[in-house]
Amino acid sequence: MSFIQLNGITKFFTRTLKPAVDNLSLHIEKGEIITLLGPSGCGKTTTLRMLAGFEQPSTGTIQVGDEVVFKDGRSLPPEKRGIGMVFQDYALFPHLTIEKNVMFGLNKWSTKQKKERVREVLELVGLSEFNKRYPSELSGGQQQRVALARALAPRPHVILMDEPFSNLDAGLREKMRYEVTAILRKADTTAIIVTHDQKDAFAVSDRVVVMNEGIIQQIASPKEMYRCPKNCFVAQFVGKTNLLSGTLCPDLKHVETNIGRVCLPSALTESMDNVMVSIRPEGCRLSEKGRYVGTVERVTYTGEYQEVTVRLNGDLTVEPMVIYASIEQDVEVGSVISFDITPELVALVD
Ligand SMILES: Nc1ncnc2c1ncn2[C@@H]1O[C@H](COP(=O)(O)OP(=O)(O)O)[C@@H](O)[C@H]1O
Ligand SMILES: [Mg+2]
Repeated sequence: MSFIQLNGITKFFTRTLKPAVDNLSLHIEKGEIITLLGPSGCGKTTTLRMLAGFEQPSTGTIQVGDEVVFKDGRSLPPEKRGIGMVFQDYALFPHLTIEKNVMFGLNKWSTKQKKERVREVLELVGLSEFNKRYPSELSGGQQQRVALARALAPRPHVILMDEPFSNLDAGLREKMRYEVTAILRKADTTAIIVTHDQKDAFAVSDRVVVMNEGIIQQIASPKEMYRCPKNCFVAQFVGKTNLLSGTLCPDLKHVETNIGRVCLPSALTESMDNVMVSIRPEGCRLSEKGRYVGTVERVTYTGEYQEVTVRLNGDLTVEPMVIYASIEQDVEVGSVISFDITPELVALVD
């Protein structure tokens, strides 16, 4: 049985409108780091708050460890659920030292135990020397580590983090992705992280849960999510993609589209008529005698690669394709190029 189970959770804030969370079921294993990823307003925070006990589901059950924490309107209060929450703004007490901030959740412990545990978690987050400082004397990244230390101190079953990276600038953000995951792994804890940023989600988690309009769209590892998005929403929300409609060939392995025949990573087991394929720009490789030929309409240089917009077969009724070229390749607007498509980065989507 999974360590954390949310079963059939629906949350209505108002009876008449659509639910904020719609029949959500999610099982999480001990030690897993999971992210809830989706656009603003899709129900990520509400899901986290229901798990923490700050919000009550309209229907459904929640189990944490061996304990049913919500069922039939009966709800275990947040402080009894064994959950550590890291808030988006860290919510540190400005008038307390780092040490006292971390000690805050340990009021039932003996003084000796408290001191020992605070020393332990501050060491875990690499802030042992900062124990007598005040939050205002720390950088944003350090404050976040204090907030994480405070949440970890009472040894909760699970750590919840709502948009932990959104207050950090680009460079620090990347660094904190690695630091936060390293700390969570070292603490051997289960964690659920909410983010609207695909890069955050992919960098920190074992599995990603993509949500839209309160509904789970797909649950998968970052690699599987990128290579095999289940539907058009996931394909477009997670990275860039080209979506083409077409018909499945009798061999069940190729799709006839308006740019020509496209090969799937493996043959399907049953036939269907009209299908939709997602082709990742990374799956298109420039090649002198490539199968697909087109005219370059636009080149955007990102520094890491060039994003090339190509109009195939001169057909203005067909959406141009976006493909990536490496930065040392010469790609000029107006020139004719050809490319091949790697089947592994092609996926059939709903
Ligand atoms: N306390 C509330 N009262 C009424 N509606 C709410 C409340 N909290 C959230 N909502 C609504 O529920 C939906 C999901 O919100 P939220 O879970 O905060 O989304 P996310 O965290 O994914 O941005 C939104 O439409 C939001 O307006
Ligand atoms: Mg939110």
